[in-house]
Amino acid sequence: MQRKTLIVGATSAIAAAVAQICAARGDRLYLVGRDAAKLQALVTSLGSAVVGHESGDFVAFEQAGARMQRAIAVLGGLDRALIAHGYLGDQARSERDFDYARAIVDTNFTSVVALLLPLAAHFETQGHGHLAAITSVAGERGRPRNYTYGAAKRALGCYLEGLRSRLYPRGVHVHDIKLGPVPTPMSVGHPQNFLWGEKHAVAHGIVQAMERRWHTVYLPRSWRLVMAVVRLLPECVFQRFGFLAGR
Ligand SMILES: NC(=O)c1ccc[n+]([C@@H]2O[C@H](COP(=O)([O-])OP(=O)(O)OC[C@H]3O[C@@H](n4cnc5c(N)ncnc54)[C@H](OP(=O)(O)O)[C@@H]3O)[C@@H](O)[C@H]2O)c1
Repeated sequence: MQRKTLIVGATSAIAAAVAQICAARGDRLYLVGRDAAKLQALVTSLGSAVVGHESGDFVAFEQAGARMQRAIAVLGGLDRALIAHGYLGDQARSERDFDYARAIVDTNFTSVVALLLPLAAHFETQGHGHLAAITSVAGERGRPRNYTYGAAKRALGCYLEGLRSRLYPRGVHVHDIKLGPVPTPMSVGHPQNFLWGEKHAVAHGIVQAMERRWHTVYLPRSWRLVMAVVRLLPECVFQRFGFLAGR
C-alpha cells in the first residue's frame, strides 16, 4: 500500500531520516520545513517520492490551517502525519527575556497545536490514520539546564494524551515520540554518553511506532527505564544529584 505521509519540520535531522525511510518503502510524501534551501535539497535527494513541499515559519500560526489543507489536497488524503520541528534555545536567556522564552514555548507547543487542530479534524472525519509529534525526555522532569523547552514539550505531551483519547474511538492513533538526546544540529556541543541515540535508529523507531500502534514511545528505548527512575526520585534526592539538578 502506498501511504500518504506528511512530515512537518522535515528539514530536522531526525525528520529527514524518517523521510528517507518512508521514501524507500514507497510512501507518497509531502514535506514542510522552514529553511527553503535545505528543504529543496532534501526534496531533490528523495526524488519522485515527494509529491509536494512547502517552506515557511510555523510560528506564523494563522497559516497552519491552509498549509495543512494544501498538503492533504496535494497528497489526495492523509495516512500518516509527523510533526518534528523543535527549538531548544538558550535556557539562561529564556530566564531573563520573556519574548525569547515565549519563542521557545511558541515553537515547541503553540505552533504544534496550531498544526494539530486541522490535522486532528481531518483524521476525525476520515476515521483512520496516524498522527505523531516529537516531544522529549526533557519534559518529564524540570531541570535548570532546559526547563523552558522541557515545559513546552511536557505541555505538548499532555495535549497529545488528550487528543489520543478524543480520536481513539474514531480509529485514529496519536503518537507521543519521547526522544532522549541524539546528535543533531540541536544538540551540537552537548557532552555525549552511552545513553545517546543515533538519528537513523531513532527514525526507524518513529516509523515502527506508527506501524505497531505504540502510542507513547521512548527512543532510544532504554530511556523508558531511565525516566521511570528519574520521575520517581523524591525532590530531596533529585536535588542532591548535580547531573540532574545542576546547570
Ligand atoms: N536532538 C536531540 O537531542 C533531541 C532530544 C529530544 C527531542 N528532540 C526533538 O526532536 C525533534 C527534531 O529535532 P532534531 O534533533 O532533528 O534537531 P534539528 O535538526 O535542529 O531540527 C530542528 C528543526 O526544527 C525547525 N524549526 C525550529 N523552529 C522552527 C520554526 N519556528 N518554524 C519552522 N521550523 C522550525 C528547524 O528548522 P530549520 O531547518 O529552518 O532550522 C529544524 O528543521 C525536535 O522536536 C526536537 O525538539 C531532539
